[in-house]
Amino acid sequence: MTSIEQLTPADFDHFLAYLNDHLSDNGRDGTGYFQPLSRDDARFPADKADAFRAGLRIDVGAPGWRRVWVARDAAGGIAGHIDLRGHAERYAAHRCLLGMGVDRGQRKAGLGGRLIAHAQSWARESARLEWIDLQVLSSNAAAINLYLRNGFQKTGEVDGMFHIDGQRFSYTGMSKRLG
Ligand SMILES: CC(C)(COP(=O)(O)OP(=O)(O)OC[C@H]1O[C@@H](n2cnc3c(N)ncnc32)[C@H](O)[C@@H]1OP(=O)(O)O)[C@@H](O)C(=O)NCCC(=O)NCCS
Repeated sequence: MTSIEQLTPADFDHFLAYLNDHLSDNGRDGTGYFQPLSRDDARFPADKADAFRAGLRIDVGAPGWRRVWVARDAAGGIAGHIDLRGHAERYAAHRCLLGMGVDRGQRKAGLGGRLIAHAQSWARESARLEWIDLQVLSSNAAAINLYLRNGFQKTGEVDGMFHIDGQRFSYTGMSKRLG
C-alpha cells in the first residue's frame, strides 16, 4: 500500500531523478507520447526544473506557485506524483493546472485515481480553488480516460498542435469544477 504525501523542497532532487526516469519512457513502445517532447529530449528541461523547485516555496495564488504530492511505496521509493500550479495569466488565481504520472511498474492499480482525489481535496479545501485545468496529448488514451472517469470534461482540442519526431499530435484541454 502506498502513502501520499506533499513533497518538501528538501526532497526535490530525489523527485527530479524520479521525474527524469519517468520521462525517459516518453515516446517509447508500450507507453507512447505523454509529454510534448522528442524521444531524444526526454529530460525535464533545466530552466523548468529551477522554476518547479522555486514554486514549492511560493504562496498559493502568487505568480509561479506549485505544489507536488508523491505516492511512496513501502521502501520509500516514488510510485507516482501529481502537481498543481498557477496559471501564467493574471486574474486566474482561482484556477490551477494539473500534471501527473505513475511509475511504469505501478500502473492500472488505481494509483492515478487516488492521486487525483488527494490533490483535488487539497485544492478545494485548503487552497479554496474553483477549477482544475489540464492539457493532454490527444493520443494519450490512458490519461484521458482517467481524467474523464474522475469528473474532468473536455473543453477543446487544438488539431495538430505539435510536430514531434515526424508525427503530428493534437492537444486536448480538460477542466473540472470543484464543488
Ligand atoms: C495516465 C496514468 C497516470 C494513469 O495512472 P494509473 O495509476 O494507471 O491510473 P488508474 O490505475 O487509476 O487507472 C488507469 C487504468 O487502470 C484501470 N484500473 C484501475 N484500478 C484497477 C485495478 N485495481 N485493477 C485493474 N485495473 C485497474 C482503470 O480502469 C484504468 O483503465 P482504462 O484507462 O483502460 O479505463 C499512467 O498511465 C501514466 O503515468 N502514464 C504516463 C504519464 C502520463 O500519461 N501522464 C499524464 C500526462 S497528461
